[in-house]
Amino acid sequence: MSKHIVLEGFMGSGKSTVGIRLSYKMAMTVVDTDKLIEREQHKTISDIFSEEGEEAFRQMETDCIGRLAEQNYSQIISLGGGVPMREQNREILKRLGMVVYLRAKPETIYARVKNDTSRPLLQCDDPLTRIRELMAQRGGIYEEAADVVIDTDERNIEQILTEIVREAGKRGIV
Ligand code: S3P
Repeated sequence: MSKHIVLEGFMGSGKSTVGIRLSYKMAMTVVDTDKLIEREQHKTISDIFSEEGEEAFRQMETDCIGRLAEQNYSQIISLGGGVPMREQNREILKRLGMVVYLRAKPETIYARVKNDTSRPLLQCDDPLTRIRELMAQRGGIYEEAADVVIDTDERNIEQILTEIVREAGKRGIV
């Protein structure tokens, strides 16, 4: 079975940026579940939410990671922020490989996403409160699903990459 490096965390926690930088550092390819879904559906995430509803999108995520679990080569996988919320998905994540939770404070998240209109769940009057509420619901689940937790607020990108490479090495992922 392949061992992927799986990046999970809240929207704006840096999964995409870390994924790309890690792919250079480890000479591994990187995929992003949001981008895979957009490509398959020929639609943006916002359009999927507004035209087909959130549940349809959640099923697309489950199908997407199910397919990634069948692959016989290792990649870096950057997950959409909601993926670990389904229990069924957490079972698949266990088979996928090393799950790294990029943890960040709500204020840090807010500063990163406040001008971004591409995340339907944060298009509301008070996104910071929404982030805090979602983080309260999700934080424990991200932790439960993770093999490694990295507090990104206190670290720069190089330190985050170094930590992931070290943890991957311990688990025989190179
Ligand atoms: C979501 C996170 C988004 C995207 C969708 C829903 C979530 O991905 O999948 O907007 O529920 O947290 P990012 O975490 O890459 O922003």
